[in-house]
Amino acid sequence: MQSTQTLLSVKSLKKHFPLPKKSLFSRHRPYLRAVEGISLDIQKGETFGLVGESGCGKSTFGRTLLQLYKPTSGSVIYRGKEGEEVDITALKGKELRALRRELQIIFQDPYSSLNPRMTVGQIIEEGVAAHKFYKKGSPQMQVYLTEIMQKCGLQPYMLNRYPHQFSGGQRQRVCIARALAVKPKFVVCDECVSALDLSVQSQILNLLNDLKEREGLTYLFISHDLSVVRYISQRLAVMYLGKIVEMGEAEQVFSNPLHPYTVALISAIPSMQAGKEGKPPQKILLSGNMPSAANPPKGCPFHARCFMAQECCQRIPAPLKEVKTGHFVSCHFAEIPTEEKREIAFKKGKAKT
Ligand SMILES: Nc1ncnc2c1ncn2[C@@H]1O[C@H](COP(=O)(O)OP(=O)(O)OP(=O)(O)O)[C@@H](O)[C@H]1O
Ligand SMILES: [Mg+2]
Repeated sequence: MQSTQTLLSVKSLKKHFPLPKKSLFSRHRPYLRAVEGISLDIQKGETFGLVGESGCGKSTFGRTLLQLYKPTSGSVIYRGKEGEEVDITALKGKELRALRRELQIIFQDPYSSLNPRMTVGQIIEEGVAAHKFYKKGSPQMQVYLTEIMQKCGLQPYMLNRYPHQFSGGQRQRVCIARALAVKPKFVVCDECVSALDLSVQSQILNLLNDLKEREGLTYLFISHDLSVVRYISQRLAVMYLGKIVEMGEAEQVFSNPLHPYTVALISAIPSMQAGKEGKPPQKILLSGNMPSAANPPKGCPFHARCFMAQECCQRIPAPLKEVKTGHFVSCHFAEIPTEEKREIAFKKGKAKT
């Protein structure tokens, strides 16, 4: 049963991009399967992290979720005003535009997502006026913009400046101000601190956390950086080749990763490398690259790189199953404890101290 706290419920979401035909006469059109059947619930007020290596489909998932890309199939149930449920994949035109205000996105590169010819005031004002909160140029608008700037740690005089006159961290604050000015309920933060220095990263993460508490927001926080996701999320999902391979409470997944891919990813975080019971820390090495989403392997998508792989992994896909309450893993050997998996990797020469 769905909890009353669920804000978004994603069911079997797919996004396939058409590729050019290999030859004029070939019957089948090839597709790149960027998102391959993702189901998950995002709870009101939480930060849900999404991690995975470059190209695994994180941004495509975020954009398809918000209907910035039309899904190939699947549904996204949004529980908006008064708990009313809407499948936003079925909305069009006016209805979708009305919901856009509630569902916002902050992109990785604040420079290319800000119009260089507009002042920051004009940039933030645009959405506010489009959603008819206040009229452009009105005194109420001016007061509102000043308030938003201050909330996001920017000085009101900066409203008359252009994006190039800001530092990277300040530009990211402008993007946050623009997204929050329209009073959203849900924000996808797509690699929104990845381009910043570590110290600026933590300022922006703290700002996002403060704003979430104050404004009652819910985030989908996308990043390839596990330490960042660990810091900010309550729950998270690990994505590989368009699918979720592990999902659960952030602390649970970090202390007890059960998918071999997650075990390897976590072993590579410097701060997580402290060896248990006096054992030296081990970093598990993954050989090869992620396979192509245009031609995904049969069976488990991770089998070719996996230190646990057996013959069955090449043939049979492992469904995402609940191993412990709220902890989902898609691996035929999900029940084997983390420590045992690490030892297997080490014995097979896949781990180094
Ligand atoms: N508009 C598009 N048209 C065609 N293919 C696309 C499009 N957007 C993404 N892809 C492909 O879909 C796959 C997933 O890309 P996506 O950008 O979602 O990955 P990502 O996990 O966000 O990667 P990164 O960490 O580098 O941002 C990639 O193979 C990419 O080339
Ligand atoms: Mg991306």
